Formats: sequence, C-alpha cells, structure tokens
Amino acid sequence: MRIDVLTLFPEMFESPHGHSIIKRACENGLVDIVLTDIRDFAPEPHYNVDDKPYGGGPGMVMMCQPVFDCFEDVQKQDAEKGKAILLTPQGKPFNQQKAQELSREKRLILIAGRYEGFDERIRQGLDTEQISIGDYVLSGGELPAMVIIDAVVRLLPGALGDEDSAADDSFSGGLLEYPHYTRPEDFRGMKVPEVLLSGHHAKIEKWRKKQALERTIGKRPDLLKNQ
Ligand code: ADE
Repeated sequence: MRIDVLTLFPEMFESPHGHSIIKRACENGLVDIVLTDIRDFAPEPHYNVDDKPYGGGPGMVMMCQPVFDCFEDVQKQDAEKGKAILLTPQGKPFNQQKAQELSREKRLILIAGRYEGFDERIRQGLDTEQISIGDYVLSGGELPAMVIIDAVVRLLPGALGDEDSAADDSFSGGLLEYPHYTRPEDFRGMKVPEVLLSGHHAKIEKWRKKQALERTIGKRPDLLKNQ
C-alpha cells in the first residue's frame, strides 16, 4: 500500500513512523509512506498557504491553489489514483470498521489542514472522503493522519507478528477485547483467573467471549446496538 500525506509539517511524522509496527511495515515493503510539503506548492516570494477569511472573522483559511496543485502533483506520481481523505472535525467519525475498509485500498492520500480550516472549495473541488477522528478540534490534521495510518497499517497482512492479534482487537468483532494477563500468576494478591491456567482451550475461549461481552455491556453498551 502507498500512503501519501499532504501536510505543512512533514517533520511531525518522523517519530511516530520511526518506531515499532509502522517502521517494520515500511522496512518490509508492506507500506510506502510519502510525505509532501504543501508549502512547496505555494507561490513565491512569500510561499503563503493561508489568507484572511472573506467576510471577516478570526483566524486564517487554507488557500485553494497550494492544496489543489499539491494534490494534483502527488496524485500523478502513481498510476493508482488512490482514495483521497480530507481530515476535518466535520468529517465522518473514524472507527475500526473504517480502518478495515481503508486497509483494503491500494493507495490513500491524506490531506492534513492547519489554521481555521480549508477554503470550502477544497471540499467541493477535490474528490475526497472527509474523516474526523473524534468530536474535538485539534490544531491540524497531522495527528488525525497519524492515527489513521497507525490503525490502517497494523491491519495490513504481515504487519503484526501474530496474524490473530488484529482479529482479536477491541471493536474488531464489534466488542471490546477480553482481559489479558501475563506472569506472575499472583501479583500483590491479584490472581490470574484459574481458567487461563487450565490449558483447556474451549473453556478459555468461552470465558474470553463472556468477558468481552460483559465488558462491552458495562463500558460501551452503545457498541451492542450496531451488532
Ligand atoms: N482537524 C482538526 N481536528 C480534527 C479532528 N478531530 N479530526 C480530523 N481532523 C481534524
């Protein structure tokens, strides 16, 4: 999979992409993450990417021209047109189902904005899906892009050590994940449930399913409505 990110702050991505699962997925050729600086497409001599809003009001608005030019240049770099995503608090809420859907694409193009928002014609004129990572406003689309990349890349076949671990994740089956334990069996009087020490796989499976269901009922009953 190829993932392009259009951003004014490409350097923000260095650290999260330099570790663990994403780093390994890049090294193993499962994903190619290409960062492009929108400012490279801004007009000389000042390389402005934002301007005051028509009609007045606070903040600055991201201008059409650098974003359109950057997008068109990036899209042309690969024969695969890709699925374009605009990160915005006004978008559809991101969830595990959307991560699964995106992980089946050959190419994603993520557009991260800054300032008060995008000129409305960016939404109108570019064929994008608008996605939000939650009902709060961040200073830009970079963190949302990182969240989406992380959630998607770990679902690519071969990205995780154990193929089963993504299938067991919270939300994958519409439920929260069951509790996990590792050594020691007794930590400060808190014991590992007997069943997990029994070696009885069918019983363990049943216990885990029950725990996942009970947790979901207790913590996120809203998830059960979607079952
Ligand atoms: N940009 C700013 N806030 C955002 C959010 N919550 N989701 C996606 N993009 C954003």
